[in-house]
Amino acid sequence: MNTTLRLSPDAAGIARAAALLRAGALVAFPTETVYGLGGAATIDAAVRGIYEAKGRPGHNPLIVHVPDLAAAERLAVFDDQARALARAFWPGPLTLVLPLRTGAGLSPRITAGHPTVAIRVPAHPLAQALLRETGLPVAAPSANPSGKISPTTADHVLDGLSGRIAAVLDGGPCAVGVESTILAPGTPPRLLRPGGVTAEDLARVLGTLPIRPEDAARPEAPGQLASHYAPEAAVRLNATAPQTGEIWVGFGPCAGAALSLSESGNLDEAAARLFDVLRRADRLAGPGGRIAIAPVPMTGLGLAINDRLGRAAAPRP
Ligand code: TXA
Ligand code: MG
Repeated sequence: MNTTLRLSPDAAGIARAAALLRAGALVAFPTETVYGLGGAATIDAAVRGIYEAKGRPGHNPLIVHVPDLAAAERLAVFDDQARALARAFWPGPLTLVLPLRTGAGLSPRITAGHPTVAIRVPAHPLAQALLRETGLPVAAPSANPSGKISPTTADHVLDGLSGRIAAVLDGGPCAVGVESTILAPGTPPRLLRPGGVTAEDLARVLGTLPIRPEDAARPEAPGQLASHYAPEAAVRLNATAPQTGEIWVGFGPCAGAALSLSESGNLDEAAARLFDVLRRADRLAGPGGRIAIAPVPMTGLGLAINDRLGRAAAPRP
């Protein structure tokens, strides 16, 4: 493919990005969580292109992005619980897995044979403007090669996908920094992926904490495979001090750490910096290198951070 355009975050950039999407081309764009690799969800060739550009296995379904609840209700069937969740957390970093509506008009590759569809209404103003101007639902996995570290800047997107997509809309760094929470409403509601909306926040609307399906052998969010977010270097977790040759990534006070997720021990800051720090640590470690990461508490966004770190440290296929 040709060179990937870097589009500016203004009316002209948004118009160009929307025109490309409507023509079936692939455009990466910022959301408040991570950058998405967008393609029109109704155009089968565009959706096929997403899988090709990422090297993503075809059995791993995609999240569809729409600007509001009304657009979401045209694609999926909402009950009272799903609507309450949407009203509480949309626009924002929550993805709902819901029954696919008959006649929704999505490429069958989106759902990869599942009777459900994952839907998200992002809050980022550029994502909102792009979705409204495009006028089509937009499928968007994270804009990284499959299994690698997710992107939170346009440079991260270009590092992995330059030449494989038409354009990236450059909106600067993403504020949340970890992907959306994926929830399957129901009794009980199931947390398929911890993310930008915390389990504690969900419990306030659900009246109960969602359960975590932990069957790693048959993951319910099929993309939730053990090894993911993988740097080139080996990763050791819960490291209270570095061993010889390790690049130590701190959280809170960690004298001698090469990098820090948050020197003040702030989980919001750690989430926002996570993927950039992993990329930097990987460069410092070099080929065959080793990264050690300080413990991060399991509260609030810490659940999502530890989930990503666990997959980054998992044995590679
Ligand atoms: O924050 C986010 O969610 C970002 C931004 C770009 O919106 N997107 C993202 O997409 O993280 P991706 O493709 O990297 O992760 C989507 C996850 C995968 O694990 C996939 O298996 C799961 O959502 N998923 C998609 N459709 C599903 C479905 N119908 N049922 C269960 N899981 C589904
Ligand atoms: Mg991803």
